[in-house]
Order: sequence, then structure tokens, then C-alpha cells
Amino acid sequence: MRNSPKRFTITAALPYTNGPVHIGHLAGVYVPADIYSRFQRIQGNDVAFVCGSDEHGVPITLKAKKEGITPQQVVDKYHAIIKQSFQDFGITFDNYSRTSAKIHHDTASEFFKKLYEDGKFIEQTTEQFYDKEANQFLADRFIVGTCPKCGFEESYGDQCESCGTSHNATDLINPKSSITGNTPSLKETKHWFLPLDQYEPWLKEWIVKGHKKDWKANVYGQCKSWIDDGLRPRAVTRDLDWGIPVPIDGADGKVLYVWFDAPIGYISATKEWAEREGKDWEPYWKDQDTKMLHFIGKDNIVFHCIIFPSMLKAEGTYILPDNVPANEFLNLEGNKISTSKNWAVWLHEYLEEFPNQQDVLRYVLTANAPETKDNDFTWSDFQARNNNELVAIFGNFINRVVVLTNKFYDGVVPEPSTLSEEDVKTLAELKLYPSVIESSIERYRFREAQAELMKVARLGNKYLADEEPWKTIKTDEERTKTVMYLSLQIASVLAVLSEPFLPFTSKKLRKILDVTPSAVEGSLQWNDVSTKDIILPPGHTIGKGELLFSKIEDTQITAQLAKLEQSKKENEAANRVVDAQKDTCSFDDFTKLDLRVGTIIEAKKMAKTKKLLVLKVDTGIDVRTIVSGIAESFSAEEVIGKKVTVLVNLAPRALRGVDSEGMILMTETPDGKLVFVNPDTSTSLSTSEDGVNNGMTIN
Ligand code: 2FM
Ligand code: ZN
Repeated sequence: MRNSPKRFTITAALPYTNGPVHIGHLAGVYVPADIYSRFQRIQGNDVAFVCGSDEHGVPITLKAKKEGITPQQVVDKYHAIIKQSFQDFGITFDNYSRTSAKIHHDTASEFFKKLYEDGKFIEQTTEQFYDKEANQFLADRFIVGTCPKCGFEESYGDQCESCGTSHNATDLINPKSSITGNTPSLKETKHWFLPLDQYEPWLKEWIVKGHKKDWKANVYGQCKSWIDDGLRPRAVTRDLDWGIPVPIDGADGKVLYVWFDAPIGYISATKEWAEREGKDWEPYWKDQDTKMLHFIGKDNIVFHCIIFPSMLKAEGTYILPDNVPANEFLNLEGNKISTSKNWAVWLHEYLEEFPNQQDVLRYVLTANAPETKDNDFTWSDFQARNNNELVAIFGNFINRVVVLTNKFYDGVVPEPSTLSEEDVKTLAELKLYPSVIESSIERYRFREAQAELMKVARLGNKYLADEEPWKTIKTDEERTKTVMYLSLQIASVLAVLSEPFLPFTSKKLRKILDVTPSAVEGSLQWNDVSTKDIILPPGHTIGKGELLFSKIEDTQITAQLAKLEQSKKENEAANRVVDAQKDTCSFDDFTKLDLRVGTIIEAKKMAKTKKLLVLKVDTGIDVRTIVSGIAESFSAEEVIGKKVTVLVNLAPRALRGVDSEGMILMTETPDGKLVFVNPDTSTSLSTSEDGVNNGMTIN
């Protein structure tokens, strides 16, 4: 018997539209939120799973400035990429909206006006940072400085990404403008503040003394520490030209703070969806029986647990979140994922490079989810989890069951005979899995839940390996029928229970077993696994076999690692500090240099050094020894025979006991590569009195 359906409002953090979505976003927010939403739908519950693009705020403006395009062009570009990639990845939002939508501008404006009219804001003129050269106030990410709490030197004006503290820009130590790098001045400006201090007693009651101890330790701990530190009024408006205009008189040139409008985006997305579906949005936000959950990353905790709930409380008619299951961060190959440094695995690129392998990434990100601490994604772990777990355990089991059923019984589920003790135990064990998995999901332990699912596949694999039906078919037909019947029950359980985690696989498997999709009435459902004695009845004909997973080859992994290596190089090149030009040297000084074209006729590495090559160079005058510090960039073998430019009248000097009589000219390319100053003819090079090189160019 199914309980009466519960109503869920499930939100997933609105991604900033200043870049595509990467695996860090997926592991932290969207995969767990999707597993949870799919699971609740499977239980027959009423779910509104909403998200959308966060299109305001300074990150968008900064990106637009960097690319020389308008903020609107930035958000249009990335909204399209993000929306499509979520859809292709199987994230089942009921609505993916955007904060530039009219419905959102209206909803956020009305929300602000209601609070304003109810006297919930403090209007204050304060001094804010101002960049005189850029002629603008420096809100949020337009300013960086040292975090007053943890000392991180690149904290933003509104939040420190290192310790998560949310602060006012004027709290920063040594502030600098992100636009010009200048130290800002202070200038008076009027803003509207939400007096968080007034909500402190209520927040203490609700979070600290209330029932929020069932929140994840990281979430509860952060909230408690903020509340214990004492809350201060927070400005909810900004002096910017990109955002939702403050909808009251006397606020020209001001917009809503992005963290005021973005969470209201959850409400607008629900409204937009309800309008489309002919539903009423209000119960999803105002009925106490609705369970509201915010899936977010740890950097968003303060906004979802302190600021947004205070806004909702101030408005007065809304429900509050039941839980905020925030995750920690996922790193990539040992380094922090970074959009600006292109240190990421981008979802839209993954989908192109690993076609039809959405579930592999879903699986790996869940198996390694940063639920209680930061975790690391590595391509070798990705390959190992696919090849050793999905292919070798799950896929292998299904493949053997399907191939043998087709081979032995033309695809018809056989009638079992007497069940062995082991069979009875296995069937009893299978019935426990739905509630075990459910209990983990309800506690937001998705890694644990998926590990339980894999236990079903392991159980099946072991059962087949122990019973060896491919052998017993020759000796004991009845026993083989029982074993295959039981294996088919396990395969069906996998098809049902994998749906929240591996939806594409579950769909494929249902097709292979010819079990109708779970959404269809009368089909095999989640609870049937624990309540029905027979899941796939004898006489049922299964469909054709199809590989569920395929091996990921070393070449695919090497290609991904090479791509990251390339990003690293490009980044280093972009961040290279180019040495300033040296002091001017006189023409007379220059003419003292005797530059010739020589040929390296011998080369060997100097023993016990990393950098030095000992060269014999034919300079056209003589053959001489030159010690050159190029061994880290060139091998001895590759320089032999090379024509080079030589400074022949450099005073000789001894290097590690070898007299060096000259210098080979080298320079660096813009990306830091050491190259020869290459003569392109073999004529000797000298500088004439009038400063003209004899037909040669020195790069
Ligand atoms: O951190 C971020 O990417 C924000 N754009 C999340 C916003 S969540 C919400 F409140 F909309
Ligand atoms: Zn900090």
C-alpha cells in the first residue's frame, strides 16, 4: 500500500551564467538533487524540481567586460549551453527558467516592494567603495581584498571563497578594484538593508534550538558559527547597471543584490512551471505540508540557511526549507576546479566526447560525491570505476543473464523448481534493498545508497559464478531453470532500483527485460521489489540483449589528461609576468658585441648538472668550447649540426671547471618556450657601423 502522496519543492542552486556547467557543479548539486527528485517521483510523490540560470550579478558583468560583449550576450550564450547540457545529461528539472525572464523580474520586484511597504528594510546612506577611474561603485566581485576572518588575500566583497564567510565589502583589508586594480576611495550612497540582527533570535530558535540538528554537520556547523558570531544588517541593493531595477521611487541606477533576486528565482521558476502545467504554484511555497529542500554547494550555505529564510520570514506567507543538504567541493586531479582557469571537465564537452555515457559520469560523481569532505575527481578513477564496476560487475551480470536466457530458453523466463536454501536467502535479501536504499536517500547519503544498489549487482554476479548455469545445463536442467529464474529476478530488481541513479541504464535494462517503464501504470514499481514474491513471472519473454556499459580505453583517458595539461599551459602563459624592458643600451655598447653564425659540431651533457650542455662550436674563426644552460629544453643529440648565433667576444669564464668561450643566443617565446635565435643563412653575422645587420634579423 502506497502512503498518500507528499508534496516536495526541490530546488537546485541556480548556476551563474558566466560559463558552462562542470563536474564540480554536478557532483555538488545537480546529480544528488536529481537522484532525490527521481526517487520521490518514483514513490508517487508530487514533486516540483526547479532551477534556472542566475543571470545577474557581477560575475556576468566581469565576463562580458573580459570578452568585449554585453552581459545579455553572455547570459544568452551560456543559458542555452547549460539548459541543453542538463537536459542531455538527464537532469529532470520540472522547470529550468532564467532570472532575466519577465516572470522573475515581476516576482522579485513584488517581493522587494512587499518587504519595503511592510517596513522590513532599513534605509541607510553609507560609504561604499568607489573606483574613480572606472567611475563606478565596487560591489561584490568588483572588489577583492584580504578576508577579515581567514586572511585569504583574494576574498570578494560579499563573500570569501576560502572560508565561506559572507561579509560587507568595507570589511575587507587592503581592498583593490577588480576593474582597474586601484585602491578604491569611499563615497556615500543610499541602500536598503535587511536587518539580519533582528532575525537572530528567531534563527537561533529555528536552527540552533530547533530541529535542524538533523541537517548535515557541515551545514549546521556553519550556521551555528555565523549566528554565534552575531548577524548584522545586509544591503539588498547595489549601485550597478546590470540586474533588476530597485522597484521604488528614488532608487535610480540601483538594482537588487543578486543574492536577493536569485533565490526568489526558485519561486519564479515554480510559478512559470505551474502556469504551463495549469497548476497552482502557491501550495509548493506556502503549504506547511510541503517539504522544501535546497540542494546547494557549501559556498551557498549562508544565503540559503540565513539570508533567504530571513527574507521568507520577513515576507510572512512562505514556508521555510526542511533541509539544505549542501555538499563540499569536488577538485579535479588534485586542483581546485576553476571556470576562469579552464581547469574543469565541462558537461557539454563530456557529452560530446563520451556519447551515450551519461550514467558513467553520474555513477562516478555519486560514488565519489563530496558529501562530508572535499573529494578529488581523477580520470584514472573514472576509468577504473567504469571498467571494474559498471562493466565488470553490473554489465557483466546482466549480459550473462540475458545471453543465457536467450540461448537456453529462447528468451522465456523459466519455471523454477525447488528452491535451495541459498535461493530462499537471496530472494529474501533482495526484498530488503528498496528500504535500505530509501533510508540512505532520505538521509541524503547518495554514495551509500548507490553502493547498496551495486551490492545487488555483486550479489547477482556472485550467484551466477557460484551456480555456473553454463555448466549445469548439461547435467541438471531443473536446477539450471531455477538458477536462471532467480538471476532474472535479480536483473529485474536492478532495472527498478537503478532508476534514480542510472536512469539511462535502467531504461535500457527495462527494454532488454521487456518490463515497461516505471511511469506506466501497472509496470514493475519500486515497492513491488519488497512486496511481490515474483517480480518477473515465468513465461514472460525478455527482449534482445544490448551492452549496458562499454570499456573506457586508455587512449580516451590520455586524451582527457592531455586536454587538462593544455589548459594548464595556456593558463601559465596567460599569467606569465613579462619582464619589463631593461635600461636602454647605447649604440656604441651594442657595436661592441661580435655576433657570428656558428655550427654546433659536438655536444654532450655536463655530468652532475641538470642544465648544462658542453658544446663545440665552429664559429668560422675557430672551433671553441661553449657551455650553454639549455639542457632542460634540448638534448645533446638534437643540437648537433644546428646553426646558431654566437656572441664570440664574451669574456671567457669557467663553468664547473670548463672554460666557456662565448655564448649561444637564446630567447623565450611568449608562452615561455626557450628557442634559438636562429640564423636563416650560413653567412657570418656582424653589425656594421651604420647599425644594419648584414641582411640578418635578430629575433
Ligand atoms: O553560486 C552560484 O553559482 C549562485 N549562482 C547560486 C545561486 S543559488 C540561488 F539562490 F539562486
Ligand atoms: Zn575567509
